[in-house]
Amino acid sequence: PIAASIAADLLAWYDVHARALPWRAPPGTPPPDPYRVWLSEVMLQQTTVAAVKPYFRAFLDRWPTVEALAAAEDADLMAAWAGLGYYARARNLLACARAVARDHGGRFPDTEAGLRALPGLGAYTAAAVAAIAFGRRAVVVDANVERVVARLFAIAEPLPAARPAIRAAADRITPEARAGDFAQAMMDLGSGICTTRNPACAICPLRPNCAAAATADPARFPVKAAKKPK
Ligand code: ADE
Ligand code: SF4
Repeated sequence: PIAASIAADLLAWYDVHARALPWRAPPGTPPPDPYRVWLSEVMLQQTTVAAVKPYFRAFLDRWPTVEALAAAEDADLMAAWAGLGYYARARNLLACARAVARDHGGRFPDTEAGLRALPGLGAYTAAAVAAIAFGRRAVVVDANVERVVARLFAIAEPLPAARPAIRAAADRITPEARAGDFAQAMMDLGSGICTTRNPACAICPLRPNCAAAATADPARFPVKAAKKPK
């Protein structure tokens, strides 16, 4: 029941406090176009929300569908991507768009496994798109989610060894329904409340169920591996 109340408390908070972002649907409304979800999740992997917004809008204006993107020239896509960095993402983006257009009639597969089988689409993106665009129950773990989960359960093992335990805990608290809202609520909580340096436990909806908040120093989770002495 702790897992169930974490999800319920977080979703109730998200219903009021969700960030309005150009690739999102408001909480509780039908999900956005899978193309928008996929494009935004790829852009957000190593780039901040603020930096992604103008690129996301420019891409949608220029290539409104995955089929339009699939027909783009490589050089045009790379030029439009300039500034976002990590150019392997742009190459993977194009490979994936072309596979969706060529092999799937322009429609993204609607399961995590089907998405994962696309070229250039990794485990994180498959889980995020399955949950956010298709309402599938998928366990979505990015750096924000990792931090929040490590704190909720006061996972004392250092990173990166703690990752399997963090993922297992994330799995336990992910609800059957609204897994996409749940994932994005965890991201919003991690970016606005359960921040790296100064978590705002006093206003956090998860405080009653949070093991770290009951300690003197919630920010010490997730524990970092000690640097090797020189
Ligand atoms: N970071 C990665 N995906 C995100 C999303 N859907 N909303 C906000 N931040 C994110
Ligand atoms: Fe993070 Fe504090 Fe909320 Fe726990 S109570 S999830 S440490 S902000």
